[in-house]
Amino acid sequence: MSYDTIYSGRFYFQDEFRELEVAVSDGVISHIGKAITGAPVTKLEGAIIPAGTDIHVHFRDPGETDKEDFSTGSLSAVYGGTTTVYDMPNNLVPVSDYSVFQDKLSSVSSRSNCDFGLYSLYNGRNADLISPRSSGIKIFLGGSTNSTAVDQISDSDLKVLDSMNVPVVFHGEDAACLKANSIPEENSLMDHDRARPEQCEVTSAELISGMPLKKKIMAHISTPESLSKLNGRAMKEVTPHHILLNSEMDLGSWGKVNPPLRSRDTQRKLMDSYFRGSFDILSSDHAPHTEHDKEEFFQASAGIIGVETRIPLMLALVANKTIPLSLVHRTAIANPAAAMGIRKGIIQVGYLADFMAVKFSETRRVNQDRLHSKTPISPFNGFQAVFPHTVVMRGDIILENNEFVGGRNGRFVGNVTSSYP
Ligand code: DOR
Ligand code: ZN
Repeated sequence: MSYDTIYSGRFYFQDEFRELEVAVSDGVISHIGKAITGAPVTKLEGAIIPAGTDIHVHFRDPGETDKEDFSTGSLSAVYGGTTTVYDMPNNLVPVSDYSVFQDKLSSVSSRSNCDFGLYSLYNGRNADLISPRSSGIKIFLGGSTNSTAVDQISDSDLKVLDSMNVPVVFHGEDAACLKANSIPEENSLMDHDRARPEQCEVTSAELISGMPLKKKIMAHISTPESLSKLNGRAMKEVTPHHILLNSEMDLGSWGKVNPPLRSRDTQRKLMDSYFRGSFDILSSDHAPHTEHDKEEFFQASAGIIGVETRIPLMLALVANKTIPLSLVHRTAIANPAAAMGIRKGIIQVGYLADFMAVKFSETRRVNQDRLHSKTPISPFNGFQAVFPHTVVMRGDIILENNEFVGGRNGRFVGNVTSSYP
C-alpha cells in the first residue's frame, strides 16, 4: 500500500495517548504503527485527537446570510476542531422538498470549509417530497425560528420517514404546552423559561419515546427529567449552553434560546447528568442572529452561537480535570459521527484522517472578537477554552499554527447509504 503522507505524534488511540505514526492514503487512515516509512512524515505537536462532528448547526445559507453563511460558519467550525457539520433546514425558505434541497446543496457546496451534511424539514405534509439525499430529517414539535410546529405525525408518514434510514432529530417542546404557558411580555431569561417551561419538553420527550422510528435523536435536552421519559428509546443530545449557562446569569437577549436556559438548579443537575455520561451527543445548536435581531428582549430572535467553542470549552474542563477526555471524545467526536454513519471520530484504519492537535497546557479565554462567525457575540466570552492549533481534514492540514490554510473544499455527506468518501 502506498501512502500519501504520514503524521507522527501523540495520538489518542484506543482510549489513551500513544506515540504513533499514522499513514494516510486518499484521505483515509491506511496504517497505524511505529516507524512507518514510504511517505513524507509530518510531526504534530501536542495531543492529537480525532476532529469533531457537530450534528446541529444553523448556517442560515441561503436566505439569511447577514447572520452567517456557509463559508463563515464552516470556518468557525474548523477553528473549533470540528471538520463535519450537519446544517438544519429552517432556512428562510425551509428545506421541505427536494427541489429546495437541491438548490441549497448547489448554492452552498462550493463554499464549505469543512465536510457537511444537510437536513430536510418534515412539516407534517411533505413526507413524500423529502429529498432522498438528505443527511437527516428535522421535526419541530414546538415552533421556533422559521418553523411551525408539527403536532401529529400519521403512521404512514412515520413509515416513510423511517424508510429513509437517516436520523430523525426532534426539537422537543410540546406546541400545546407552549401555547398554554405563553405570557404577554418577556423581559428576562427567567421570563423566557417561564413562557417555555421544562414541562413542555418533558411532555415532548414522552411523545418522542413512543414514536416507531429506528434512528431518532431528541435535540438540545434542557432538563434531566426528559431523560427518564425517553427511557433509552432515542439518542440524547445536549448543548454546551444548557450545561454551562443558566437563566440567572446576566446575559440579556444573547442568552435567549429555545429551549430556554433553565434555573441554576436545573442547569447544575443537567451538567452532572452530562458529566456522569447520561448523554450520547454534544452539539452546539449554533444559531447566529444579528445585533439588530437581539436588540429588544421580547422581540429578540432565539439562538446562541457555539460551533467554534463547543469542543474547546469541553477540552478546558478536561485540562482542569473536571471531566475525562473519554467523555468529550464519545459525545462530541465519536458518537455524532457514528449517529450519522460516517467513518470519522476514531483513529483507526479505514476511518477518514481528520484530527486536531491541542496543547492542554495552553488554556485561554474565549475572546468573541476573535471568533470566526459572522455574528461572533457569545455568552461564553471569557470562559476558559483549549483551541486546536492544527486541524487535519481527510489527510490535509487545514489549520496550521492557529491559521486557516484550507480552502472551501468541504464535501457533502448525504444519506449514509450513498457512498462516502
Ligand atoms: O434558539 C433556537 N434557535 N432554537 C431553535 O429551535 C432554532 C434556532 C434558530 O434557528 O435560530
Ligand atoms: Zn437548532
